[in-house]
Amino acid sequence: MRVSCVVNGEPREADDVWPGESLLYVLRERLGLPGTKNACEQGECGSCTVYLDGVVVCACLVAAGQAEGRSVRTVEGLAAGGALDPVQEAFLEAGAVQCGFCTPGLIVAVRDLIDRNPAPSDADVREALAGNLCRCTGYEHILDAVRRAVARPVP
Ligand code: FES
Ligand code: FES
Repeated sequence: MRVSCVVNGEPREADDVWPGESLLYVLRERLGLPGTKNACEQGECGSCTVYLDGVVVCACLVAAGQAEGRSVRTVEGLAAGGALDPVQEAFLEAGAVQCGFCTPGLIVAVRDLIDRNPAPSDADVREALAGNLCRCTGYEHILDAVRRAVARPVP
């Protein structure tokens, strides 16, 4: 089947999509957007976090057909005009990236958190990111990155 949706502001189409295929697969393998990572494919790790109609979801749990006619925003879509999103800059500054596998999902989740709650407490951050697993950093640098991002002007 063909799936048509808007991805990062542009109309996109994917052909020959199998009914059981995930949105994650379509983004990475059919639309050339590998920023969204595939770590568990079971909704457990958050590395595939994207926006679907403005709500963060695990793309591995969304059937590609569910995206028909809808709007998807991936980590690639946060860097408008080639400029990094302040959350991306904050992750770099804080050294919150090691292997980087969790990073795109975390950045989308942090962007969403700050848009909903511009002054989150550490407890708010930990709760909001509870579904995003990182095997490398021990989370302290990620918390530091969120604090830095909160202190930056809204894009
Ligand atoms: S790859 Fe989707 S939650 Fe892990
Ligand atoms: S930086 Fe490696 S999993 Fe988070």
